[in-house]
Amino acid sequence: MLFSRGLFAPVLIPFLLSGGTLANDALERAEEALRTLQDYYNDGTGMWNTIGWWNGANCLTAIADLALVDPSVVETADYVFNNTLNKAPPSNPNPGPEVKATSKRSLYSRAGGSANASQWLDSAYDDDAWWALAWIAAYDVTEDNTYLSLAEGIFAALTKAWGTRCGGGGIPWNPTDGYINAITNELFLSVAAHLSNRVPSRKSDYVNWAIKEWDWFTAQGFIGENNTINDGLLDNCQNNGATVWSYNQGVVLGGLVELNKAAPNDTYLQSANKIAQAGIDTLADSNYVIHDWCENTDCEPDGTQFKGIFMRNLQMLHRASPNEIYKKVIQNSANSIWENDRNEQGQFGVNWAGPPSAGNIDASTQSSAFDALVAAAAI
Ligand SMILES: *[C@@H]1O[C@H](CO)[C@@H](O)[C@H](O)[C@H]1NC(C)=O
Ligand SMILES: *[C@@H]1O[C@H](CO)[C@@H](O)[C@H](O)[C@H]1NC(C)=O
Ligand SMILES: *[C@@H]1O[C@H](CO)[C@@H](O)[C@H](O)[C@H]1NC(C)=O
Ligand SMILES: *[C@@H]1O[C@H](CO)[C@@H](O)[C@H](O)[C@H]1NC(C)=O
Repeated sequence: MLFSRGLFAPVLIPFLLSGGTLANDALERAEEALRTLQDYYNDGTGMWNTIGWWNGANCLTAIADLALVDPSVVETADYVFNNTLNKAPPSNPNPGPEVKATSKRSLYSRAGGSANASQWLDSAYDDDAWWALAWIAAYDVTEDNTYLSLAEGIFAALTKAWGTRCGGGGIPWNPTDGYINAITNELFLSVAAHLSNRVPSRKSDYVNWAIKEWDWFTAQGFIGENNTINDGLLDNCQNNGATVWSYNQGVVLGGLVELNKAAPNDTYLQSANKIAQAGIDTLADSNYVIHDWCENTDCEPDGTQFKGIFMRNLQMLHRASPNEIYKKVIQNSANSIWENDRNEQGQFGVNWAGPPSAGNIDASTQSSAFDALVAAAAI
């Protein structure tokens, strides 16, 4: 540890919370959260113990996001990108919903590792897209084309899954069960839009895919009357009224920010602002701290990952379209995590209002809270 937690004794806080010190304080919190997250990192498997394959992509993305604003963690980030690329299984060794690990051992017994995108695939299209975003984030930090090419290859594979059912388009959740859900399509939009700003030679292809996805998405019933996004579509292609998960209010924001950068159109940020506002109205408590519908051990390690993803994308929207409410949500959530939801080992629980409950702390709750601390540090 580089600094003592004792520094944050309440009596000192008024001095620390002034001017530029606030930013430094937020960075130090994120750095400490990263050190605790890396206690779960398994150098041999290139993955984080206690969580699943898709969660790993989100750990990697959050680390990249911190490295983009904090040069002191770039070395750690570079190591993780390279080690994970070389050691992690390129396809999910345990397909299906992630299971809670009963011990702190790794869920992975088989190490793989490949920069070959056709091997870096899963039986769930959303998982593939999480990794595409993670490798794009690694590229943003390193400018190493290996990562960008891998993301492009993953996206190329996803385009082959473009569907024919609801409105003649969209990406189903996976190749077999046909469920059309919001997250897979939000991710497809976001990957296409991110690539359009990073691969000049194929910019128009990626812009076209992003617009095609967004036009299709808005023509389906995903977005409810109050502008929140439900989980997915019924077999008859109408909104299924299923849970308004925080990450579904988030991924679309980053996608629209990137699309607006590549192909500006005022409606993109207008839509993003409506969805973000509706998400906050639905998910924030009276202290502007974000919650999700499931905050107990039953949701580990999938549902416990979601809130950080919302914060990461809300921060992207705040940068493109600043709003005091977004700032308040990001800062209040981060402050509450630090003050109310952190145990003596520096680990975070799933309920950001606290307290951290011993039974449901793992690398998903850690990296989700870390995402919020990174968003606060990036403001
Ligand atoms: C990347 O990881 C591989 C496998 O662990 C290692 O052999 C190689 O030296 C690493 N490359 C860099 C640049 O650190
Ligand atoms: C990538 O993996 C695929 C599928 O395993 C294989 O057919 C292809 O030859 C590999 N490409 C390279 C360049 O190794
Ligand atoms: C902007 O986007 C909206 C919604 O997708 C679309 O209807 C409109 O044609 C776009 N405007 C331009 C100038 O492309
Ligand atoms: C918006 O609608 C969803 C149901 O689709 C509901 O869960 C949520 O509470 C609503 N939000 C508000 C602010 O009423």
